[in-house]
Amino acid sequence: AVDRARAAIDRHVRLVDDFPSPGIAFKDLTPVLADPEGLSAIVTALTHGCRGIDLVAGIDARGFLLGGAVARELEVGVLAVRKAGKLPPPVHSTTYTLEYGTASLEIPADGLDLAGRRVLLVDDVLATGGTAVAAAKLLTDAGAEIVGVAVVMELAALGGRSTIADGLGPDIGVHA
Ligand code: PRP
Ligand code: MG
Repeated sequence: AVDRARAAIDRHVRLVDDFPSPGIAFKDLTPVLADPEGLSAIVTALTHGCRGIDLVAGIDARGFLLGGAVARELEVGVLAVRKAGKLPPPVHSTTYTLEYGTASLEIPADGLDLAGRRVLLVDDVLATGGTAVAAAKLLTDAGAEIVGVAVVMELAALGGRSTIADGLGPDIGVHA
């Protein structure tokens, strides 16, 4: 499953030099996700070996696309973890540090019972791990249990896996 996804990514990914800042080679997954084989292979790889999940949480923004498809594949529901200011009150909110400045993520604080829900977090890219850990904290503070983190690409040099192990415990499966 992972080989199929890797082949589709290699075939369709768009490489953009010097974005979002000089010296960074950005990998744009847009054409991969727009390709039927690309989306199918990625969703299959992200769900491979996943068991005992009862909710998928997709992180703003490409985690929404992937999270919905992954949830459907696992036959569970999906929750959007949104950037600040998009949801009506009341919300649970967490602020985390980025390379430049801070950002906030939010989920609804009403109408959603997360107690004991076993959640798979889904996003496009794992870099420093700050976003994934912030999203996970938000969900665990609301009573959920994070079972794993599934991403399409990992920028391994930035140490996201150890940030996740430090922040969430060594038992969290990271799937990249
Ligand atoms: C990117 C990417 C991940 C996050 C990973 O999102 O989509 O969500 O960075 O970085 P980290 O592991 O260092 O936290 P970004 O915040 O750039 O916004 P976007 O998803 O809305 O494009
Ligand atoms: Mg993101």
